[in-house]
Amino acid sequence: MCGIVGYVGPKKVAPLLLEGLKRLEYRGYDSAGLAIMNGKGVETRKVAGKISRLESLISAKPISGTLGIGHTRWATHGAPNEANAHPHVDEKHEFAVVHNGIIENAGSLRRKLEDLGHVFTSETDTEVLVHLIEAAFDGSLEDAVIEALHQVEGAYGIAVVSSRDPHKIVAARKGSPLLVGLGDGEHYVASDASAILAHTREVVYLHDGDLAVLDRSGYRIIGLDSLTQTRKVSKIDWDLAQMERGGFAHFMLKEIFEQPQTVASTLAGRLLLNTATAKLAGTNLSDEDLLAIDNIVITACGTSWHSGLIGEHMIEESARIPVEVEYASEFRYRNPIVNDRTLCIVISQSGETADTLAAMREAQRRGARTLGIVNVVGSTIARDAAAGIYLHAGPEIGVASTKAFTSQVVALALLTLKMARLRDLSVIRGREIIDALQALPGHIQQILDRAPEIEALAEEFKRAQNFLYLGRGYNFPTALEGALKLKEISYIHAEGYPAAEMKHGPIALIDELMPVVFIAPHDSVFDKVASNVQEVKARKGRVIAITSREEPSLAGKIDYEFRIPETIDMLTPVLAAIPLQLLAYYIAVKRGSNVDQPRNLAKSVTVE
Ligand code: AGP
Repeated sequence: MCGIVGYVGPKKVAPLLLEGLKRLEYRGYDSAGLAIMNGKGVETRKVAGKISRLESLISAKPISGTLGIGHTRWATHGAPNEANAHPHVDEKHEFAVVHNGIIENAGSLRRKLEDLGHVFTSETDTEVLVHLIEAAFDGSLEDAVIEALHQVEGAYGIAVVSSRDPHKIVAARKGSPLLVGLGDGEHYVASDASAILAHTREVVYLHDGDLAVLDRSGYRIIGLDSLTQTRKVSKIDWDLAQMERGGFAHFMLKEIFEQPQTVASTLAGRLLLNTATAKLAGTNLSDEDLLAIDNIVITACGTSWHSGLIGEHMIEESARIPVEVEYASEFRYRNPIVNDRTLCIVISQSGETADTLAAMREAQRRGARTLGIVNVVGSTIARDAAAGIYLHAGPEIGVASTKAFTSQVVALALLTLKMARLRDLSVIRGREIIDALQALPGHIQQILDRAPEIEALAEEFKRAQNFLYLGRGYNFPTALEGALKLKEISYIHAEGYPAAEMKHGPIALIDELMPVVFIAPHDSVFDKVASNVQEVKARKGRVIAITSREEPSLAGKIDYEFRIPETIDMLTPVLAAIPLQLLAYYIAVKRGSNVDQPRNLAKSVTVE
C-alpha cells in the first residue's frame, strides 16, 4: 500500500519527510521520492528501492525548503523504477503530485492529454493527475485540483504542491485514506497517522470527496463543489506499533479484515456489465489467443496451489477447457505434456517463489503461453510471464496468506468469465457470475462482523492436537486451505481431505477428541457432504460446519455451526475461507504463536 506524507511550516522539510516515509515502510513499497519547494520551484528526488537510498541521494544532493510532500510507492501500474516513482511533475517542474489508489480512466485521459501536447515520462496512472492540474491551473491550486478530479474515475488519496501557488499543500481523498495533522504554525498531511505521530496527535480524517488546503497558518476543508466542510479533530491515542497494524493486533488480522476492500480492488474496473464478461487489460492475450487455447496447466505452491484447484473447477465447468493443476516443485521435474496451445497459469502472491518461477520457465521452454496471477507488481514472475493479472490486494505482510487467496480466487473467476463468454457461456449466466462477484465485499463484511463467534469457537478448540477439514467440489480446496492456515500458524496437525475420501482411511482417526471442520454450503454436492457429517457424528467426532442455510438434514449432527451468506457455487470458497482464516488466527493467538512470522516459515520461498 503506498504511503503519503507532507509538511508545511517553519522547519526544514527534508528530514521530516524522510522520517515520515520511514514510519510508512511497514506498508510495503518498492520505490520512494519527495518534492520540495526550494524557493525557486519544485525540486524532486526519487529512487527505486528503499528509503535509505533516497536518504543517501538527499545527503549527496540536499534540498532546502520548508514545504514538501513525500511518497512510498507499491507499484500497481508500471514497474518499480525511478521514472515511475512518485512525486510526478509536469514538464516545467511547477507542479508535483503524490497519489495512492488507482485511476481507472488513466488510459483515455493520457491519450487526451498527449493530444494536447503533454509529455509523459512514466508508465503510471498517477502522472495524468499532474498534467490535468497543470492544464487547469488559473491562479488557485485547489481550484485546479478540483477541476482535475472531476475528470478522474477511480480511487485516490493525493497531495499536490506548486511553485505557482507556493505556500500551500492541497490534499484530496476518494477511497484512499488521508488525514491532516495539526501543529502550531505547521501542518501535516499523511496517509496514516504513524507518519506524523512523533509531531502531533491531533488529526482530522478526510472523508471521501474532501479536499484539504494547508498552509503555515492553518487548514480548511472543502468539497469538490468548493463548499466548506467541517470535520472533527481526533486525538490519536495509539502507540506506533499499533498504528502500523492499523490498530489490529497482527498484520494477519488486519489483512483478514481488509478483504472486503481487497476483493473490491481486484474487481475494480474489470467487470463489463453490458456484455456480461470481464476486462483483463494485462492479459496481453487477444480473444483469438484465448480461443486458440485447448488445454491449461495451473502451477503454484501452497495457498496459491489451493486457489489453482478452485480455478481448475471454475474453468472446466464454465469454459469447458481441460485443466491440470500441478505443484510447481513437481511440474518442473516431470516431463509434462505442454505445447503452444497450452496456457500455463502461474499463481504466486510474491511473484518470487523459486519452484513456481522454475515451473513457469519450463512451461515457456516447451512453448506454452504463460499468464501470471500475481500480487507483487514488478516481481520476477510478473515481469517474465507473457501475460498477467495483478491482484491489487496491497502488500501481504503476514506469512500466512489470506487476502491474496481470496483475490486469487476472484481473479480466476474473472479469467474464467472472460474465457467462458468467448465460448458458449450465456449472457444470463455471465450476469449471474458478475452479480455474485459484486456482492462478495458486502458478504465478506457480514462474516467479519461476526468474528467474535469464531473467537469463542477457537477458545473451545485451542488445545486440540489434530484437526480434519473436509469438503467436496469447489470446497475440497477450501478444506486444504483451512487446514494449511491452522497448521502453519498454530502448529496443530491438520489435514484437508475430499469429504468422501474420509471413508478410505482418515475415518479411522475419528473419535470424540477429533474436531472435524466441514465446509458445507448449500451447493450442488451438499447432500453428499451431509451424509459424510452423519458418518463422522456416528463415530463421536466433534463437528464444526460452515453452512449457508438452515439444514434439516444436519439437525442434531453439528456441534458448532457458522453460517455464511449464500452465493454461487464457484464463489463459496471466497466466503468459506474467511471463518477458517479467523479460526486459525484466534487458535494460534490463544496458543501464543508468533502469528505474523510463524516458526520455520518465510513469506516468500525463494529457494528450492
Ligand atoms: C500460505 O499461507 C503460505 N505462506 C505458503 O503456502 C505460500 O502460499 C506459498 O509459499 C506460495 O507463495 P506465493 O504465492 O508467494 O508463490
